[in-house]
Amino acid sequence: MRAALLALVLGALATPAFAGNDWVPPVKDPLVLKECGACHMAFQPAFLPARSWNRMMDELADHFGEDASLPADKTKAIRDFYTTNAGDVLTQGRARKYMQWVAPSGTPQKITENPDFLRKHDRIPERVWKDPKVVTKSNCPACHRGADKGYFEDD
Ligand code: HEC
Ligand code: HEC
Repeated sequence: MRAALLALVLGALATPAFAGNDWVPPVKDPLVLKECGACHMAFQPAFLPARSWNRMMDELADHFGEDASLPADKTKAIRDFYTTNAGDVLTQGRARKYMQWVAPSGTPQKITENPDFLRKHDRIPERVWKDPKVVTKSNCPACHRGADKGYFEDD
């Protein structure tokens, strides 16, 4: 009992330092950074479940109105990266928490419609989202300077 309590306290204290870079494990794969970071930040796989990434990789030719299709070998390598590091596969950092409210079925495609995203951002006024420096909710680095490194806990 006492040991469990102590572990809890130590765990809580150790969290900030430990979380560090791996709060949301950042994308380090050069191919993903290049191909999926060309139009927006290369989003961390932990933000969506594997089934969502699979569908996204199937539909790159019509990716939110853009043609983001790639040769088969690159598509496969990127699919492997996203599905093996997906939010419902990884248990590191914040991944589990992010998946908590995601419905067990369906293939959501927008991180910005994830229930946890909506909860965490519900106090941001409309004028901030419309700021010319932000423009779209998916522009994470506009508000989170460390977004590409996996830091979202402060702005
Ligand atoms: C040709 C440009 C382009 C490329 C390349 C591209 N995307 Fe996108 N992506 C977009 C656009 C445009 C949107 C919609 C942005 C918005 O609604 O604000 C988007 C949105 C997304 C979203 C949803 C963001 C949200 O609002 O929650 C994800 C996830 C995503 N892209 C992943 C990827 C992945 C993975 C790759 C690499 C395979 C990729 N993108 C490559 C243009 C691109
Ligand atoms: C308009 C500015 C803005 C944009 C754009 C934005 N965020 Fe946020 N985000 C915030 C603010 C403000 C908070 C609340 C910080 C807090 O509660 O301490 C937040 C909180 C978060 C948190 C919770 C951090 C924690 O304390 O647990 C995550 C995760 C997050 N954002 C991810 C994202 C992702 C991923 C994107 C892009 C898809 C994004 N944000 C886009 C402003 C923004």
